[in-house]
Amino acid sequence: MRKYLVTGGAGFIGSNYIRYMLNKYKDVSIINLDKLTYAGNLENLKDVENDPRYEFVKGDIGDEAIVDELIAKADVVVNFAAESHVDRSIGAPDDFIKTDIFGAFVLLEAARKHHVDRFIQISTDEVYGSIENGSFKETDPLMPSSPYSASKTGADRLAFSYFVTYGVPVIITRCSNNYGPFHYPEKLIPLFITNALEDKPLPIYGDGLYVRDWIYVEDHCAGVDFVTEKGEPGEVYNIGGGNERTNLEITDYVLRKLEKPETLKTFVKDRPGHDRRYAVDCSKMNAMGWKPKHDLTQALDKTISWYIDNRSWWEKIKSGEYLDYYKQQYQS
Ligand code: NAD
Ligand code: DAU
Repeated sequence: MRKYLVTGGAGFIGSNYIRYMLNKYKDVSIINLDKLTYAGNLENLKDVENDPRYEFVKGDIGDEAIVDELIAKADVVVNFAAESHVDRSIGAPDDFIKTDIFGAFVLLEAARKHHVDRFIQISTDEVYGSIENGSFKETDPLMPSSPYSASKTGADRLAFSYFVTYGVPVIITRCSNNYGPFHYPEKLIPLFITNALEDKPLPIYGDGLYVRDWIYVEDHCAGVDFVTEKGEPGEVYNIGGGNERTNLEITDYVLRKLEKPETLKTFVKDRPGHDRRYAVDCSKMNAMGWKPKHDLTQALDKTISWYIDNRSWWEKIKSGEYLDYYKQQYQS
């Protein structure tokens, strides 16, 4: 029985990953350590909560005592825990530094002490910064431009240093923009689907011509599992969906699919320091035999249907005041 410690497993990608792993393998056990910040939601894991192979522990990855106790029992650590929203990092960077950098440090220290078999640091394509043409390779310099991406870069390089300096078997993944079920409705795709369903305006930052590469969350989960099995310690792996779209293209698609009027499109003040385009070169993973399985249109349709069918999940979240609070700071 292989024992996993998954951090941030009550969030969007972490919860999809836990479900993916429990479905794929019989012989795994998973402890999910999550602080349950505004983004952590145990409803994301309702279907697996009684699985005897799964255990939830509420706690902070910056808490040395709890991290030490849990990593002592783990073979593999997968660190998803992070403050993940760029807009929030612009308004209040503190928690980004605490969780994304210091939290990763606490995990790495415990991994060093307890000699884990693998430490997977979930980094992001945002660490490279923006690129006008072409795409970034794993060896390209890092040029993050938001407090979020800078904190993720700190953790990414700290993890690498624990491989070089102490021999901790660290693997780093840098994935592009995920979409799919349980995506918190503050991010572009779930915000726009749910706003459209509520006939509310879709706030497009700037000219809407910013480009992201979209990957279905299950493909990201499969990629993380793939590098855990086939990746080499000390290596970085880009994981991309191969689906570059402008934000306007995504917006138009959502509105067409939901048969909602173009008039919901609302151009608002731009995000400060907004990266124009992200693009990663995935030839390293492709050469190892991995590629994403999902087609953007089909998986986006599936995602839109999920939000239609799970209205109570997102209505509960959106009835809180946090969205208005953060949005007021950047939009006039
Ligand atoms: P999310 O915000 O939905 O979830 C983050 C989870 O971490 C939440 O459950 C939250 O409660 C938990 N958490 C936060 N601080 C914590 C702490 N101090 N201790 C323990 N738990 C804590 O984020 P997500 O979109 O699922 O992203 C997960 C990871 O993947 C992040 O590391 C993010 O940087 C990375 N990533 C995300 C994307 C994307 O498109 N969403 C792409 C590439 C990489
Ligand atoms: O690239 C990977 C990253 O993708 C992850 O590391 C981050 O955790 C994740 O949040 C995501 O970051 P982005 O900033 O790209 O995602 P977001 O959904 O916030 O924005 C996507 C694009 O849409 C971006 O160009 C900003 C724009 N946008 C976003 C929101 C929320 C809008 O135009 N309007 C909006 O209301």
